[in-house]
Amino acid sequence: MCGIFGYIGTRTASPILVEGLRTLEYRGYDSAGIYVPGYGAVKAVGPIDNLAKKIKETIPGTSGIAHTRWATHGAPTETNAHPHTDQSGSIFVVHNGIIENYTLLKEGLKVQGITFESDTDTEVLTKLIGINYSGDLLEAVQRTLRMVQGTYGLAVMSEHEPEKIVVARMGSPLVIGICEDGNIIASDPSAIVSHTKDVIYLDDGDMALIEKDSYQIMSFEGRGREKTTEKIEWDLEEIKKDGYDHYLLKEIMEIPKAIENTLRGRLIPDKGRVKLGGLEKHSDKLSGLHRLTIVGCGSAAYAGEVGRYILEEYAGVPTTVELASEYRYRTNLKDSKSAVLAISQSGETADTLAAIRLAKKQGLGTFGIVNVVGSTIARENDAGVYNHAGPEVSIASTKAVISQITVLIMLAVFIGRERKMSLEDGKDIIEALQSLPKEIEKVLEQREEIEKIAKKYAQFQNFVFIGRNNHSPLASEAALKLKEITYIHAEGYPGGELKHGPIALLDEKFPVVAFAPQDHVYEKIVSNIEEIKARKAPVLAIANTGDDQVSHLVDDVIYVPKVHPIIQSIVSIVPTYLLAYYIGIEKGYNVDRPRNLAKSVTVE
Ligand code: G6P
Repeated sequence: MCGIFGYIGTRTASPILVEGLRTLEYRGYDSAGIYVPGYGAVKAVGPIDNLAKKIKETIPGTSGIAHTRWATHGAPTETNAHPHTDQSGSIFVVHNGIIENYTLLKEGLKVQGITFESDTDTEVLTKLIGINYSGDLLEAVQRTLRMVQGTYGLAVMSEHEPEKIVVARMGSPLVIGICEDGNIIASDPSAIVSHTKDVIYLDDGDMALIEKDSYQIMSFEGRGREKTTEKIEWDLEEIKKDGYDHYLLKEIMEIPKAIENTLRGRLIPDKGRVKLGGLEKHSDKLSGLHRLTIVGCGSAAYAGEVGRYILEEYAGVPTTVELASEYRYRTNLKDSKSAVLAISQSGETADTLAAIRLAKKQGLGTFGIVNVVGSTIARENDAGVYNHAGPEVSIASTKAVISQITVLIMLAVFIGRERKMSLEDGKDIIEALQSLPKEIEKVLEQREEIEKIAKKYAQFQNFVFIGRNNHSPLASEAALKLKEITYIHAEGYPGGELKHGPIALLDEKFPVVAFAPQDHVYEKIVSNIEEIKARKAPVLAIANTGDDQVSHLVDDVIYVPKVHPIIQSIVSIVPTYLLAYYIGIEKGYNVDRPRNLAKSVTVE
């Protein structure tokens, strides 16, 4: 979602703030702004570059706060951009999240003669802090937060106290970076790692007073809180483009490495088992499960759907997958022998977090598959598995999704070997997992071929993706990637459902991408392809290398190696990521930052 950055120390703040915003730009990119005490706020609509151009000369001052916005309340305009300022023009606020009771608060402030320029909830929050200010910024923020409902990560500064930044967290992440020449605050550790690896993650209900050589963490009531400093485990290099034109391509090409990192130290080949450190203590609970409910949003939920097929088939665990945004508001029938597993790349998605909190409240075991170490979901689960896929910057999730499915396969072995999975089956799966990076390389080597196919298909305005069994959720995942990166309308369907409606859409201008691996439902998908060809729709198949039957039927084929069925879905999805990438490039879009989207959706 939006990004917050702040610095207070001995160096000139403005270049540090702008650089900080650049690393956060992937979280939101409608507009941006900075505030440096003594200078005021500078804001610009559009990418950070627009803001950087506007700051013509270095602004003097060694402290400041900054923000990159993804609009929730009000259009992306300069007036709506952060930092916002109070009525007196001396208090400045950057805010992520949503103030739910802002309308009520706004009415109250209007009665007191306060006027509003923007459409944002943040301006209401800022003006309220202004009203509550009587010489002590910390106290004013504390008083204000007692009046506010909603979610926020916020950073506040005052012209009168330029040596202080006050921050608070309720539902939207904030991290403090401890540097030699000062302190940093950011909504995401990736903005901090170039300055320091020593960080403190704030929890909901924490606030902090940050000065250049000290910080105090406390509750909203001002009671001191002890926090441990943690180390960021990855390097800045990992979030650079490495010579690729786009993060998206870089991250697709990194899939083999991401899998290796996900698997590292976790496979026990001779025992046909896996070692998932975080789950060891919960092994009895997991192997005795009556039901596992997987929750997630977007691509993480599709990874969960693939996992459902795998967990049921190989581990014998009845599994349900629910979109977190639905799970949190519906009646959930409790069963003490069921547990909830959250899948989230960022570990901050608001709906997924809410689903986990709800499950916890109901006394269910909560587990997580999370990529970002130290993120809120990771910390709030009972236990979990980190993906170790490395930072993912491109909005569309690729290597993280692959890593999520990889963990789900390991989870199937972890639980399955305690249930019905034989030693031999366990060993076979471990061997398959070990072979995965090199099998994916074979797909990535076909980049140029896929690019040619992408150029051919870029002209179409609609697509349907189909698949069966564990390739059916892949159809939805591939369609999601295409629509978010290329703005082409695309739908994903289980192959068997095509004739119950969508087939009515098909003609020469409506192509179908069919996942057709040679698995136990191969003949079924071949029949589906026949039905499609009878309607003259172009078909692009993702088929196993050497499959002549399908290649004779369809217009184009991308071949993927035939592998153990448990890993086939991973091998099959990769070319569709490249397809979406190259179609997006062909159409001239910014594939790393599709319009209207955010990497991590920390609001409902
Ligand atoms: C956003 C991203 C998607 C992602 C989803 C869930 O919509 O654009 O790529 O799949 O959030 O994010 P999470 O961080 O929870 O995996």
